Amino acid sequence: MTGRVALVTGGTRGIGRAISEGLKKAGYRVVANYGGNEAVAQAFTAETGIPAYKFDVGDFAACQAAVARIAAEVGPIEVLVNNAGITRDATMKRLSRDMWDQVIDTNLGSCYNLCKCVWDPMLEKGFGRIVNIGSVNGQMGQYGQVNYAAAKSGIHGFTKALAQEGAAKGITVNAIAPGYIDTEMVQAVPADVLKKIIARIPVGRLGHAQEIARGVAFLVADEGAFITGSTLSINGGQHMY
Ligand SMILES: NC(=O)c1ccc[n+]([C@@H]2O[C@H](COP(=O)([O-])OP(=O)(O)OC[C@H]3O[C@@H](n4cnc5c(N)ncnc54)[C@H](OP(=O)(O)O)[C@@H]3O)[C@@H](O)[C@H]2O)c1
Repeated sequence: MTGRVALVTGGTRGIGRAISEGLKKAGYRVVANYGGNEAVAQAFTAETGIPAYKFDVGDFAACQAAVARIAAEVGPIEVLVNNAGITRDATMKRLSRDMWDQVIDTNLGSCYNLCKCVWDPMLEKGFGRIVNIGSVNGQMGQYGQVNYAAAKSGIHGFTKALAQEGAAKGITVNAIAPGYIDTEMVQAVPADVLKKIIARIPVGRLGHAQEIARGVAFLVADEGAFITGSTLSINGGQHMY
C-alpha cells in the first residue's frame, strides 16, 4: 500500500471513476475531481469514500486554488491522472470557434493547467507520476472530430516533451490512448455509427473502464520508474503501430 496522494480529474464517473476506484484499491489516497454533475459526485463519494472536488480543469486559476486546497486537506499530489475530457463533435462545416475552444481547453489546456500546478512540488520531492488520457482518435483522426483529435493528439506530444523534463528528476509522464470504452461518452454516439465502429475492433466489443484503470495503476506504480514518455494503447486491436 503506497499511501501516495493521487488526483484523478473527471474521476467521479466513466473511465475516471474506474481509475479512482482502482487506485484506491491499490492503496493510494485518491481525490477525484468533477466538473458540475453534483448528483453523480455525491453518490460516488457516498459509495466509494473518495472525496470529490469540483473545479473546471480548463480554468488555470481554479486548478491552482484546487491543488492548494488538496495539498492542505489531503497532502501534496504525487500522482496526477489527467482524465477529464469532453467531445463537441461536428464536421468543419458546423464546427464553431466555441466548440473548438471548449474541447481544446478542457482536454489539452487542462494538462498544462494541472501539470503546471503539481510540477514544482514533484521536482522538490524528486518523485511524481503523471498519466494523461489521450485517445485512439488522437492517433488515427476521426470524421467529425477535428477539435477532439487535435486535442488528444496534442496530449501525446505534450506527454513526450514533458517526460524529457521529468526523466532525471524522478517524475514519469505517460499517456494512455483508449479505444472505444462503454461509458456515457460513447453511449452518446448514434447506434448505427457505433455498430460500424465495433465491427472494426478486432476484439469484437467495446472496452471496459476497468481495463483502462488497470493500465493507469501499472504506469503510476513506484516500480514504473523506467517507463516514461510512452503511450499505452488499450483499444482491442483497433489501431496498431
Ligand atoms: N469513452 C471512450 O470511449 C473514450 C475513448 C478514448 C478516450 N476517452 C477519454 O477518456 C476520458 C474519460 O472519458 P469518459 O468516457 O469516462 O467520459 P465521461 O463519462 O463523459 O466523463 C467525463 C468526466 O470528465 C469530467 N469533466 C468534463 N469536463 C470537465 C471540466 N471542465 N472540469 C472538470 N471535470 C470535467 C466530468 O465531470 P461531470 O461528471 O461533473 O460532468 C466527468 O467526470 C476523456 O478524456 C475521454 O476523452 C474516452
